[in-house]
Amino acid sequence: MLKSTMVIALGSDHAGYEVKEKIKTLLESLHIQYKDFGTDSVDPCDYPRIAVDVAKAVAGSEYRYGIVICGTGIGMDIVANKIKGIRSALCTSAKMAEKSRSHNNANILSLGSRETDWQEIKKIVKTFLFTEFESGGRHERRVKQIHVLTDM
Ligand code: RB5
Repeated sequence: MLKSTMVIALGSDHAGYEVKEKIKTLLESLHIQYKDFGTDSVDPCDYPRIAVDVAKAVAGSEYRYGIVICGTGIGMDIVANKIKGIRSALCTSAKMAEKSRSHNNANILSLGSRETDWQEIKKIVKTFLFTEFESGGRHERRVKQIHVLTDM
């Protein structure tokens, strides 16, 4: 269930800028708040800084989820997953988005603007935001292991 206090941290590089702007409109239509961590145009920029800013914001728990977009989604995903506490999932289908939440408790969604069309992205974003983690069982045990094993 969505909480009315849910705030999303959004970020993209130049390749993801236009999709980020569309996602803002989508979130507004769903009455979901967001903060935009940039970039603010299609002028070329480097994705690592933006991914780190979004991931740290989500890890700091002020933001429920993050959504990051670059050309493939790969660069943003790699960087976000370097931040402690982050489980970023690069999703190219609504099915992947559903599993990333229900099985992996992903807290960042990474998207590739040049790989996935807008109609699919819309489904992915909505599925990600509206799918709950299946807590209390094998998925929770496995997700806990991610952090125990990688934080050593
Ligand atoms: C930019 O051309 C592109 O490399 C970037 O958006 C992203 O796909 C990196 O992973």
